[in-house]
Amino acid sequence: MDTTTQTTTSLYDRLGRHEGITRITRTLIGNHMANPLVSIRYAGRDMKKVEQRVIEFFCAGAGGPETYTGQDMLATHKGMNISEQEFVAVIDDAMAALESNGIDATTRNDVLTILWSLKGEVIRV
Ligand code: HEM
Repeated sequence: MDTTTQTTTSLYDRLGRHEGITRITRTLIGNHMANPLVSIRYAGRDMKKVEQRVIEFFCAGAGGPETYTGQDMLATHKGMNISEQEFVAVIDDAMAALESNGIDATTRNDVLTILWSLKGEVIRV
């Protein structure tokens, strides 16, 4: 693959399309459940539904053909009073999930940029 091809490969492809993103999302939710800073927030939630929505969100946000059927980020997190520390914990879990699924550093940074751009819709809303 030459440089031009590499730089034009979509984020969706670099994450392994629907199958890869499903695997990454399952790892991510496993990381959340093992992270006391985050797991407490998910007590009593329908995790199958959260998983499905996060897969859709991730796929659509990476440029895939999937449709996201959940609420927007502001509506989803409104009233939760999420802290900066919790936000960083979720991002750490996401970066670890990407790394343990073999996603390269450039692609991890691309995902980080997208997640970081959403902070105003998640923290203390
Ligand atoms: C950029 C960071 C984040 C993104 C992209 C994100 C994305 C999402 C998505 C797509 C959903 C599903 C929405 C739906 O079902 O309609 C969701 C739900 C949820 N998020 Fe986040 N989230 C982020 C940060 C956080 C943080 C920092 C916390 C708290 C530690 C958090 C707690 C939750 C909870 C508890 C739910 C479940 C809501 C429910 O079941 O109704 N999220 N998030």
